[in-house]
Amino acid sequence: MVSKLNTIITGTGAALPSQTITNLDLEKMVDTSDEWIVSRTGIRERRKLEDGLSSVDLSEKASREALRRAALEPSDIDLIIVATVTPDHPTPSSSCLLQARLQAFRAAAMDISAGCTGFIYALAVAHQFICSGIYCHVLVVGVEVLTRITDWEDRNTCILFGDGAGAVVVQATGEERGILNFSLKADGRGADLLIVPAGGSAMPASFETVQNRMHSIKMNGNEIFKFAVRVVEETLSELMERGKIKADALDFLFLHQANLRIIEHIRKRLKLPPSKVPVSIDRFGNMSSATIPIAIHEEILAGHLKEGSLVAMVAFGAGLTWGGLLMKW
Ligand code: UT7
Repeated sequence: MVSKLNTIITGTGAALPSQTITNLDLEKMVDTSDEWIVSRTGIRERRKLEDGLSSVDLSEKASREALRRAALEPSDIDLIIVATVTPDHPTPSSSCLLQARLQAFRAAAMDISAGCTGFIYALAVAHQFICSGIYCHVLVVGVEVLTRITDWEDRNTCILFGDGAGAVVVQATGEERGILNFSLKADGRGADLLIVPAGGSAMPASFETVQNRMHSIKMNGNEIFKFAVRVVEETLSELMERGKIKADALDFLFLHQANLRIIEHIRKRLKLPPSKVPVSIDRFGNMSSATIPIAIHEEILAGHLKEGSLVAMVAFGAGLTWGGLLMKW
């Protein structure tokens, strides 16, 4: 009998720029303070990609590590999915550029734009290709260079974001583990709550759009905060109900790192110890779709995340989008 196919992660990698921006650095740029930033967000520093490098540079580094750890060659990859809101170019896709860098010429390639939920969306799409038997090996990357679309004069947003890339190799397995269930949601009525207004077909780049700072992130932080708390709770309930598990069965809950207050609220609500809900926002800020794969990679390196671990991931962001995934590692 042919057993049902499932999706497991067999290799992880991460890439972080070396340059750090501390809260003290930001105090010199806008009217803010280390005390305000730490107490309202939990962020102490974030990474900024060096001039001259791009998100594909970060993606390549993270991907090579993930491939090495999965003991695969680039030529083994059937599909590359890059989740990002900061591609190198509007077109071609970053996944095509990455395919060429890696010389993964057998691989199909596509980008996914789902804001900070991008990695969850990309993993769910990879899972479909694996379960259908169409592809065996998929490279999924979450990468952002948000410092390139940050308005460094807007204290509401410039304190929040950082750059980084996380990559995972997913493979087909016939074993009784892998992705147990997932949930993808969107509500386009909230599109204006988190938006880069210019640079697309609605508002092409012009002298005015640059002068009016329309190429950087505009965000209604309060509304996103309320939305985030609601949808993270809803998504987790859905995942656990469908997986027939209680929160205390989770070994890890990887939450999108947008605000330490959101993370702590959820953690306490589920009565989970800090060791099960990794925090990186203090060191890296909000790296959108790169946040969760980097946190996963860190727990693998630390030897905490192992085969058999029960893992939930939940993210939310621009779109609006949100979603989660439950898997047995
Ligand atoms: O990745 C997904 C998308 N992003 C998010 O999930 C972000 C979700 N939102 C948040 O994390 C929070 O809303 C923020 C951290 C962005 C803001 O925190 P808040 O507690 O919601 O602050 P606020 O926007 O209500 O602002 C409170 C005050 C305001 O002053 P007044 O009007 O009360 O005088 C702001 O002008 O804090 C002021 N403020 C600042 N003060 C010092 C805003 N930014 C700063 C700053 N430094 N950087």
